[in-house]
Amino acid sequence: MNMERSQPTQPHSPPHVDRSRYHSNQIDNEIASTQGQCKIDQLEALVISFHEFANNLPADPRTAFNATVFRMHQFCATIDDCYSVGNSREEILSVLRSAADVYARSPFVSRLQNWPRGYPGDFESIEYIVDQINKAPPHTVEYFIEQYSLGSPISQQHRNKVAHQASLIRKYARKAAIKILIVACGSAPDVRSCMPEIAASDCRLVLNDMDADALSYIQEKLSPILDRLVFIKGNVLTNINKLAPFGPFDLILCGGLFDYLTDNQINFLLHKADERLLAPGGVLFFSNIGTGNPYRTMIEHFGAWRLIERDKDDLCRLVSTLVASGSEFAVTRDGTGLAYLAELKKGLNKVVA
Ligand SMILES: C[S@@+](CC[C@H](N)C(=O)[O-])C[C@H]1O[C@@H](n2cnc3c(N)ncnc32)[C@H](O)[C@@H]1O
Repeated sequence: MNMERSQPTQPHSPPHVDRSRYHSNQIDNEIASTQGQCKIDQLEALVISFHEFANNLPADPRTAFNATVFRMHQFCATIDDCYSVGNSREEILSVLRSAADVYARSPFVSRLQNWPRGYPGDFESIEYIVDQINKAPPHTVEYFIEQYSLGSPISQQHRNKVAHQASLIRKYARKAAIKILIVACGSAPDVRSCMPEIAASDCRLVLNDMDADALSYIQEKLSPILDRLVFIKGNVLTNINKLAPFGPFDLILCGGLFDYLTDNQINFLLHKADERLLAPGGVLFFSNIGTGNPYRTMIEHFGAWRLIERDKDDLCRLVSTLVASGSEFAVTRDGTGLAYLAELKKGLNKVVA
């Protein structure tokens, strides 16, 4: 066995730093700023080469797809490097601007950047994710960006969540005289996927959303089961009084909402649901994107899509007082591993206020 080892290389300062002229903290600052500039220069070079690539896509679609995705991730790795050497978000975004404009030629990414309904994660964007239909012009860089964005795990986790919610609706609809509340229902893809089961049951559903257009949109889609539905428009946080008379609910679904709420807002909602909305033994389902989501760099820099990530301990902390007073709490992850799927079951001995 060759035991010879190469000599460790000496850390070297950038060539133009004259160490004799500086104190050590000045040297550190100078090195940091040089490293920062180096990474920003790398990012700038990537932007230039991305434009060249976008104007001369490989003819073979598979190569074009893979080469596009390679560049999308190369951008993200370099953005992460830029942060690690101290560059600011503003600097990074200003360098990325022209590349982000190319991304926005994808109608889906454009929605993520521009929030056409005035808030992130609107029901039309969610519908886009659920349908997964690429609407960009074929064989353009934006087509491959859209293809990747709609197919990537960060979009898949939402479809998984919808499927999970639909399976909960089906499970509860089999029981007698069930009441279900769907908070922030958006385009209600979960309810729409189990209309036959709802029609065959005697369950009642209350659908809530703060966007009146979301409710108008689904009223038509849900017309075969309209007699089972009540629609309540408004911010759930300020409309507990409007929702409570339709309960108590055996199942409350809050999928995809907590990624946008602060801890205080979640605390408020969970406690109000426990006191005023849930039947004894009733279940409140919610989801949250986990910490360490690797797609965060992409969605925050090429979209304006910021999700509040939480880990399992954060979720346990949010429900701790309810668990102490008799609720049960269970958490799993969706198939992508990106989202937590959580169920809070109210104790059977707890009454509704
Ligand atoms: C957060 S997602 C929920 C998506 C939906 N639950 C699903 O699984 O596809 C988007 C929807 O939430 C609604 N929304 C966001 N915050 C809300 C709030 N505080 N109260 C009621 N609706 C809200 C938005 O109007 C939008 O239609």
